[in-house]
Amino acid sequence: MLYDTQGPFRTMVDENTGQVDRSIFADQAIYEVELERIFARAWNFMCHETQIPKAGDFFLSFIGEESVIATRDKKGELQVLLNSCRHRGNAVCRAEEGNARSFLCTYHGWTYGLDGQLIGVPGYKDFYHEQLDKSQWGLVKAGKVASYKGFVFATMDSEAPDLEEYLGPVGRMSIDLIAERGDMEIVGGVQKNLIGCNWKLAVDNLFDFYHPQISHASAFMSGFRKQLEGVDAAEQAIVEKAEINGGIRNAHRVVLGKYGHAIGGPRLTKEVREARALLGPRFEVLTNDNFRMTDSAQEALGEIGLDVNGHPNIFPNLWVATNGHQLSLRLPKGPDKCEIWWFAFVPKEAPDWKKAELIERSIHVFGAAGLLEQDDGENWDQSTRAMKGVIAKRYPLNFSMGLKHGVVNHAEGDLHYIDTTTNEHAQLWTYRGWAEWMDAESWGQLKQISVEHPGDLV
Ligand code: FES
Ligand code: FE
Repeated sequence: MLYDTQGPFRTMVDENTGQVDRSIFADQAIYEVELERIFARAWNFMCHETQIPKAGDFFLSFIGEESVIATRDKKGELQVLLNSCRHRGNAVCRAEEGNARSFLCTYHGWTYGLDGQLIGVPGYKDFYHEQLDKSQWGLVKAGKVASYKGFVFATMDSEAPDLEEYLGPVGRMSIDLIAERGDMEIVGGVQKNLIGCNWKLAVDNLFDFYHPQISHASAFMSGFRKQLEGVDAAEQAIVEKAEINGGIRNAHRVVLGKYGHAIGGPRLTKEVREARALLGPRFEVLTNDNFRMTDSAQEALGEIGLDVNGHPNIFPNLWVATNGHQLSLRLPKGPDKCEIWWFAFVPKEAPDWKKAELIERSIHVFGAAGLLEQDDGENWDQSTRAMKGVIAKRYPLNFSMGLKHGVVNHAEGDLHYIDTTTNEHAQLWTYRGWAEWMDAESWGQLKQISVEHPGDLV
């Protein structure tokens, strides 16, 4: 069904001209609607199952600005619980991760089981006269919790579609691009840093292949991309030749799905994949793409997904950084603050040298110490400051690159993609999806108004 109403937020994103109202990046009232209508409703990424393998293991995450505990109960079931005591609201879990038998509130001692049930109340007999119905005062639980190939998500809204339906082919392809690299395990610890920017600018940037040549010029000049020992110039030349033949330096593929999910960035053609595969496992750490030669990946990704080498965002805020075996959350902390989280993965069976190499890359490129995100964060911070200006807000932002030049291919499996050059299709699609989420008053309405896919030309 086509989106045919002009809700108040829809008017802030003009898909015909590519103009987006600046106030969506600065306005406190709009931000509060985002927390309500996007984050409290969406499937939010919590953690990877390898972070909480045993009963009692827990990991603290966020839904919007609210702390939640992702845990595994005694039966081994995944649980996501709001980290707020039902008595006076205190946090019942302060550690970022660990193992617990129960969650004891440090204020007055109410105690909750791993499934959120209220199991202990000091003074239950003497002070409450046994009249407190404990079955009604458990921790607030997520409406739905589910895992896709080990990646755990939760939604607070039980009206949400099931996870696989929510992800759709674009969201599932996004996760497959990591999950198909082998039996993945998470590297201990999550890199976290706070940037003075609106969360949507950090999401927008992950699709942005227009900025690297300028923003990251110094990083490229510094030679920060490590060349692996043993890969000689002749070997690299094979790959470069294939890249030039395949035209991938400027060939991009954008895949767009329902609810605002999108993938945007360079393609990786069959010719380049095959040239890289010839170089063998040493080169694979730099390219991370030999997994595409496996039967399992070919089946999961299909012809369209195998060519995807860009960046996926699972709406609202999960970047699957496929080149680096990483996931990043862009967590909102107010209209002008965003906490960036980086999870890194390694294949369990990989040799130690390869794990070490992958971990080094994870630290070196993105995150607080990463050369690229230091450049990016500075830009987003300055953009966000300017969005607040009463004068600046009168002038929209421009997302018109490639507009009306994106010929959409509609393929089997409900996949809709554009083969093009550097563009802003994925960004505009994300903002369009944002407007749908913001205008919809319920999941029922969102399911109705969210466009299934783009038309023939965007
Ligand atoms: Fe938790 Fe009182 S606030 S027991
Ligand atoms: Fe960047």
